[in-house]
Amino acid sequence: MLTHHLQDDDVAAIEAVADELSRRYDTVESTEFQAESRLYADELPRRVRRALHEYRSTEKSGILVVSGLSVDDAALGETPADRRHKPVPSTSLRQDIAFYLIANLLGDPIGWATQQDGFIMHDVYPVQGFEHEQIGWGSEETLTWHTEDAFHPLRTDYLGLMCLRNPDGVETTACDIADVVLDDETREVLSQERFRILPDDAHRIAGGQAGDESARERELRERSRQRVASAMESPEPVAVLFGDPDAPYLRIDPHYMQGVQGEAEQQALDTIGAAIDDAMSGVVLSPGDIVFIDNYRVVHGRKPFRARFDGTDRWLRRLNVARDLRKSREARLAAHTRVIY
Ligand SMILES: [Fe+2]
Repeated sequence: MLTHHLQDDDVAAIEAVADELSRRYDTVESTEFQAESRLYADELPRRVRRALHEYRSTEKSGILVVSGLSVDDAALGETPADRRHKPVPSTSLRQDIAFYLIANLLGDPIGWATQQDGFIMHDVYPVQGFEHEQIGWGSEETLTWHTEDAFHPLRTDYLGLMCLRNPDGVETTACDIADVVLDDETREVLSQERFRILPDDAHRIAGGQAGDESARERELRERSRQRVASAMESPEPVAVLFGDPDAPYLRIDPHYMQGVQGEAEQQALDTIGAAIDDAMSGVVLSPGDIVFIDNYRVVHGRKPFRARFDGTDRWLRRLNVARDLRKSREARLAAHTRVIY
């Protein structure tokens, strides 16, 4: 795991840029903000750009923690109780902007039409009624480790989580494939395209459909619905390990791979599952901390916790970041839009 602790003058410089942008935009969901965010990201202090650039280009570690940003807990207000709560301006606007710009150094933040109403920046906090679910609104069950959106060919390259509050020190779990010990035979089996991954619940619980959508939007939404339906029926076989055989990437989500494998495949999955459990580590985020997780190398999850539901619960902001937006162009409405259907 790499850590980059921001120096005081770098924090001041980041906050100055965030302040400037927060006077012009009241949300990072603004298309105009997203269109010029890279420009401002390029103006962040060189030490910050270097840390993100090295993480991205050398792949020395799959996990990078950036710490040092501040969060004014009182100004934040209560942790929302309702997942539809999206105030504009966001009470964490300055933190959102800083987070977005730093994430922008790795690529372009993307969202999903099927997740959190197509928002680019997601919220993660416990919601009543979802305590036992395997999604960001859950709490009481261990969020089983997984590759984010493992079933999807356009899944994110990086997952970014910024902590706004974490009063009970709930641990985000993470394991880098580089730390996983596997025998050659299992490695060989896992490198073959014979594993099936079902779409996860976050994509099955589709957001509401807008009444005034364009024909193109309807077409993309329909295609996405069909993709999820067909992946539910018969997921296309994929390899769990891929890329460089000596330093592979991985794609795995055991919870959504249950009951759809052959015997040999399940055995290989059980073996790597146990090996990942053995190598599992984690990070407890404090307010202002950002963790970037390389979704091609690191599986992540969350330890269970007892939610308070009193406005003081753990609250994270989440971004998915694509290295190459063009890969998803046919599933997006326009070159400048960031939502994948
Ligand atoms: Fe996740």
